[in-house]
Amino acid sequence: MSIGKPLPRVDGRVKVTGAARYTADVQMPNMLHGVFVTAGVAAGRVKTIDASAALAEPGVVRVLTHADLPPVQIETQGPPFAQTFMPLQSDAIRHEGQPLVIVLADTLEAAEAGARKVNVAVDSTTPRVPAADWASIDRVAVIPKKSGFLFFEPLFVKGEPEQEFSRAQQRIDAVYTQPPRHHNPMEPSAVLAAWDGDHLTLHDSTQHVYGVQGGIAGLLGVPAERVRVIAQHTGGGFGTKGWIWPQEVLAALAAKVAGRPVRIVLTRANLYSFLGYQPRVAQRLVLGSDAQGQLAAIAHDAVSLTTVSDDYIEFAMVASMEMYATRSMRLRQRVERANVAMPTPMRAPVEGSGMWALESAIDELAHRLKIDPLDLRLANCAQKHPATGEPWSSKKLREAYEEGARLFGWRDRPTVPQRDGDWLVGQGMASCLMGTFRNPSKAEVRLKADGTAVVLTGTQDIGTGTLTIFPQIAADVLGLPIDKVQLQMGDTLLPEAGPTYGSSSTMGVGSAVLDAARVVRDQLARAVDIAPGDAEMVDGRIRRKQSQGGVSITEAMRKAGQSEIVGAGSFDPQQHGKGLAMCNFGVVFVEVGVDPELGLLRLRRAVGSYSAGRIINPRTAKAQMSGGIIWGWGMAAMEQSPFDANLGRFVSKNLAGVAIPVNADIPADITIHFVDEVDEHASPIGARGIGELGATGVAAAVANAVFHATGKRVRDLPITPDKLIA
Ligand code: MOS
Repeated sequence: MSIGKPLPRVDGRVKVTGAARYTADVQMPNMLHGVFVTAGVAAGRVKTIDASAALAEPGVVRVLTHADLPPVQIETQGPPFAQTFMPLQSDAIRHEGQPLVIVLADTLEAAEAGARKVNVAVDSTTPRVPAADWASIDRVAVIPKKSGFLFFEPLFVKGEPEQEFSRAQQRIDAVYTQPPRHHNPMEPSAVLAAWDGDHLTLHDSTQHVYGVQGGIAGLLGVPAERVRVIAQHTGGGFGTKGWIWPQEVLAALAAKVAGRPVRIVLTRANLYSFLGYQPRVAQRLVLGSDAQGQLAAIAHDAVSLTTVSDDYIEFAMVASMEMYATRSMRLRQRVERANVAMPTPMRAPVEGSGMWALESAIDELAHRLKIDPLDLRLANCAQKHPATGEPWSSKKLREAYEEGARLFGWRDRPTVPQRDGDWLVGQGMASCLMGTFRNPSKAEVRLKADGTAVVLTGTQDIGTGTLTIFPQIAADVLGLPIDKVQLQMGDTLLPEAGPTYGSSSTMGVGSAVLDAARVVRDQLARAVDIAPGDAEMVDGRIRRKQSQGGVSITEAMRKAGQSEIVGAGSFDPQQHGKGLAMCNFGVVFVEVGVDPELGLLRLRRAVGSYSAGRIINPRTAKAQMSGGIIWGWGMAAMEQSPFDANLGRFVSKNLAGVAIPVNADIPADITIHFVDEVDEHASPIGARGIGELGATGVAAAVANAVFHATGKRVRDLPITPDKLIA
């Protein structure tokens, strides 16, 4: 049995030795390097583009502008495309950093040198910039237009919130804000496009090879089989490689026009210019409760920033839809449009943003009521989905609260802040919440007579541990050590798998691998006259369950007259958990230190305790969740992408000045705990979803701990020293 074992990562060695090949490592004969020239203004039109000096640069082959590329039209607003707006299709400038020109050269150096010599003249107009405060945001915010980004209804009302608020004995009404944040993956997005006749191959740094295939094929009007997408390793995604961005389309078009393969590796400046990021979100939360803390009404009004052409919506209000039992709610989601690049999901989106506001407000309510914030949450724990009334597939949040509280020592914490030298020490907590996103997936498992197996599935690796757990699942069913199971993935020639986002891979792809491996085992069972349901495979042998001995795989294959047994498996969410609500839950407890004179904030320790379904590999799972807490700590205390309203752009063009937690900011004392749980309704493998869950709730827990330590309530992230001094 290998499911449930803390196996080390099979990809650990190739990753740390540099042997893993990423898209930017792939070379092709005759390949051109593409470099973008981008807009220096946030709104306006291109007047003229003078490429003569660039073309005189040795090695520069072509300088492509909107006049040179064939027209393409993205019709669907929504996945797999990140936005409908495609640069280099007209002279319009919609945001600073928008690509205007592609310089193609024989070497990267020549392309960069050429790009510096392109002369672009523009007519600039006054851009729409983000509003400054809640009152002005509230004035300009609009209900998002209908599109594929409208994953939820933007207005939701249950019960009689107005009456409930007027009767409520306690009321909290506050605005919480969070700044834009960029994903900053270690590997910037990269793409290599090569045409062979009318067949296109894309080596792409993506979280969804099949999404890119379908999207690009549709856009070019060719059958999907003519577009092959390959992603061997992806050096971090976090959402910014989830959907299709301009460079993937433009590389394909440029390669067609130039008649040579084109590789475009985005620069850090490009990532800050035209790739997605988590938008600024402002949220007003109103809570009404009785004197004992029973919630009667929640009003959650969230506004997220988006670009002028497309409404990406950061659905923060969904947190209130899913979290607490309440008689009434009024939830509204709006967007504010400005001349900025298109935002996109960033771990953790949706509930990740919403829980910052909701969990801060709940803490404020607990303080007002003089109730322990954990008891307030327990009192309002939702037995059914708060909005739909559906029963949960499985929810062990009460256990997660109690077990987490015990691990942290929450019940024994000092009620008043303690002093430790210059530091004021405080504790805080918040619930964690993430939706369960299930995607159909397929996989194939091939068992060979020599007792080795191969798992084939068109999923992709973004570093979360899936390269380990998919072989682990097959090894479990086939009774093999994991090193006898190979994995082939990251290619649209393999069976179609869902995207690697939404913390969905283990459920979807994992269940497909489980299914395929069981098909193989059943076939082998028949060959040795064991009823399929009665067979088990252990130590390279197949036998009746609970029996001894059995037949070796080699012998059974010989009996079957086959050198290989192939099993096809799939996961179809429609077949599982009908009529049930699904979410991932948890709680995070933190202890912080605040130096009130210097305004310093330190995370001293943290405990995360989760109800997330079955844990396939406790080691990779723990890494996901502690990574999530560290990410959440960055959101709480450091991360922001400042936007300059005068320049109409993000200030950063590289990683300089970008504050994220490094080793010195991360305490060794981070404890991760999973409640013992198997959610057979969510997926046959019993898993729900983990990764993004870990990043939720953390910012609120930190702010709540800061309040406990200092009495200061910070409602505007990140909690920087200026907000803590005096
Ligand atoms: Mo995650 S934002 O679903 O890659």
